[in-house]
Amino acid sequence: MTIHIADRMSRLGTETAFEVLAQARVLEAQGHEVIHLEIGEPDFATPDNIIDAAIRAMRGGATHYTPASGILEVREATAAYVTRETGVPTAAQNIVITPGSKNILLFALLSLVNPGDEVIIPDPGYPIYRSLVDFVEATPVSWPVRQANGFRPDPEELRALITARTRMLIVNSPQNPTGGMLLREDTEAIALLAQEHDLIVLSDEIYRRLVYEGEHVSLFGIDGMAERTILMDGLSKAWAMCGWRLGFGTMPVEIARRMDTLMINSSSCAAAFAQWAAVEAFDSPESDQAVDRMVIDFRERRDALVAALNGIPGITCHSPHGAFYVFPDISATGWNDRELAHALLHEMGVAALPGTSFGPGGEGHLRLSYANSIDNLMTGADRIASFLGAAVAG
Ligand SMILES: Cc1ncc(COP(=O)(O)O)c(C=O)c1O
Repeated sequence: MTIHIADRMSRLGTETAFEVLAQARVLEAQGHEVIHLEIGEPDFATPDNIIDAAIRAMRGGATHYTPASGILEVREATAAYVTRETGVPTAAQNIVITPGSKNILLFALLSLVNPGDEVIIPDPGYPIYRSLVDFVEATPVSWPVRQANGFRPDPEELRALITARTRMLIVNSPQNPTGGMLLREDTEAIALLAQEHDLIVLSDEIYRRLVYEGEHVSLFGIDGMAERTILMDGLSKAWAMCGWRLGFGTMPVEIARRMDTLMINSSSCAAAFAQWAAVEAFDSPESDQAVDRMVIDFRERRDALVAALNGIPGITCHSPHGAFYVFPDISATGWNDRELAHALLHEMGVAALPGTSFGPGGEGHLRLSYANSIDNLMTGADRIASFLGAAVAG
């Protein structure tokens, strides 16, 4: 029979990281050795105390369905964590717990955006923003993120993009793919614009704990913003829990109610024992210490990789202030980003992502993740250098 795929499927994009990872795995199965700089996943193990908490919860019977938005005590602990982090008084009824934070993004768009509305997204930016905005038949509007501005999107440029059709603004700081971070003054200027134009803001702060310079300023925490902001966060990055699939959103109750309905209609709930593990992640000093240790390691890796990349003729790499990515400018090498990423994988065994897989604004860049050992990062940089025909300085 002919299988007719629904039209909406053609509007979904992808996350190139997963595709490049699959290609790299094929090469590895053929006996090639690949340095993985494509995946946005901490290489650290989840801290032991968090694993123990999940095992205890499982043995204690947390193996059943939970309320759709999450177990009440876990939502309370999450609300207390959000209050500590942002200074905004938050209650369990503002919290929705989902299997991964991507669901918060999808549910926000499904609940609040109509076909034909405009949604402003960072470009380059996390590719799922554009994909899901297209999926709900809204129009993504690119807000440039430029290396010349230290990868801080400019509020003045944002002002020029707002129209009568703009419904939502997506902000991500620290940012994937550039590692850029908004300053307090940027955040305040963005908040003012959102208030002036009555926009809903989705503030993706999943990298909020992975900061190496400066302070993370939450848009959600700016005066008057909690009533119009969905704070998107999750356990994947800071606590090295990508595979646990645990995200959460903090939002006005009217929106949380819609997300609860969407959870009932989709996943039912996040895994019960994983939810209890989140309480351990938020509340135990041991978990905080584990995050602090990861941040120290990430900073050291960042510094080593940035120095090595800047030693390669034709590459200019800005030192990012947060997350665990660098986004070097490779345009002076004469290579196109897609061709270079392809050649590096197939000829040198270095898996990297082309900048344009994060939007047209990523042209002339590669995205490399430094969630890898210093040895692997240096081998990767060496291979890139020898491919481009020069030795890494130092
Ligand atoms: C900016 C950003 N937001 C959200 C996510 C999704 O994370 P998860 O669904 O694991 O919570 C990612 C993952 O790479 C990300 O980079």
